[in-house]
Amino acid sequence: MTTRQSPSHPAPLDAGTRAARAAGNAGEPTVEFAEATPYEQYVGVRQLQALVRPVTEHPAEPAFLVVTQVMELWFTLLRREWELGQRQLRADDLDAAIGSIRRSVHHLRSLDATWGSLLWLTPAEFNGFRDQLGEASGFQSYEYRHVEFLLGLKAESVVRPHRGLPVVHADLQRALAAPSLEDDVLAYLARRGLPVPATVLERDRTVTHEPDPAVTALWAEVYTDPRPGNELFTLGEALTDVAEVFTTWRQRHVTAVRRAMGAKPGSGGSAGLAWLKRSAARVVFPDLWAARTVV
Ligand code: HEM
Repeated sequence: MTTRQSPSHPAPLDAGTRAARAAGNAGEPTVEFAEATPYEQYVGVRQLQALVRPVTEHPAEPAFLVVTQVMELWFTLLRREWELGQRQLRADDLDAAIGSIRRSVHHLRSLDATWGSLLWLTPAEFNGFRDQLGEASGFQSYEYRHVEFLLGLKAESVVRPHRGLPVVHADLQRALAAPSLEDDVLAYLARRGLPVPATVLERDRTVTHEPDPAVTALWAEVYTDPRPGNELFTLGEALTDVAEVFTTWRQRHVTAVRRAMGAKPGSGGSAGLAWLKRSAARVVFPDLWAARTVV
C-alpha cells in the first residue's frame, strides 16, 4: 500500500525498488522528476535560502549571518542529543546514553570549528554592518540558553528577554526548572546505589550547579579505575569532553569578539568583552573537574 506523502516529505523507497531503479538507470543517477526533487522536499533548500536575509549590502554580512544561523542549528542538534540522552538515562539505558553524549561531542567540535569562517572579520568590516543589527545580540539566543540549561548553567535572568514570545518563554521557563543532563546522570548513579546526597538529588534546579564534596568524591572513586570496561568512567570522560569542547566554543567566542570589536560595548547592552569573559568562566560539570584534584 502506498501512503500519500506531504509535499515536504520525499516518498519512501524500499531496497528492492531502489535496486530495480539503479538497474533501470544502467547505474546512473535518476534525472527525471515530475516535481521538486526528493532532495529538495527533504532538505528544503529554498526555505533555508529564504532565511539568509542580510540587512545591509556589506559583503562581510552574509558570512556573519550564515555562521550565526549554522551555529543555531548546532545548538538545536545538541539539545536534541542531550534530551535524548536524558530519556535514555531515565530508562536506565546507559550504553545508549553514552552513545548520544559521544555523538554530541562530534557536533560540538563541528560547532567550534565554525568559528573558522569568521576569523577574517576585521573591526572596520564589522562596523560596516554592525549598527544595522540594532540591539540584536547572541545574548538573545534562546536555543543557546537551552544548551546552557542542559549543561547546568542556569539563570532566570536569561529567560526574561523572551517574554514577548510566549511559546519560547514558556519552553525556556520549563527548561530552567527541569533537570539538567548532569541531574539525570546523578539520579541514574543514585539508582545504581552510588552515594549521591539527597540534597543534590533535590537541589534547586533553577540555579547554576555548584560543586558538591560528596559528588566530587564519587567521581574520584569512579576515576580510580580508568579502564574502557568501566562504563561509569566512560560516561565521566564523555561528559568531560562535552564540558571541554563547549568551554572552547565560549573561549573562541571571546577571542572572536576581541578581534572584531575590541572592548566596545555589546549590541545586547552589556559591557562586551569584560562581561563575556566572566560569563565564559562559569564551569560546566564542576564535580568532574574537581574530582581530578582528588584522584
Ligand atoms: C565576531 C562576531 C561576534 C561578536 C563581535 C559578538 C559579540 C558579542 C557580545 C559583545 C556579546 C555580549 C552581549 C552583548 O551583546 O552585549 C555576545 C554574546 C553572545 N553571543 Fe556573540 N558575537 C559574535 C558572534 C556570535 C555568533 C556567531 C554567535 C552564534 C550564535 C554568538 C552567540 C552569542 C551568545 C550565545 C552570546 C551570549 C553568551 C553568554 O551569555 O555567555 N555570537 N556576543
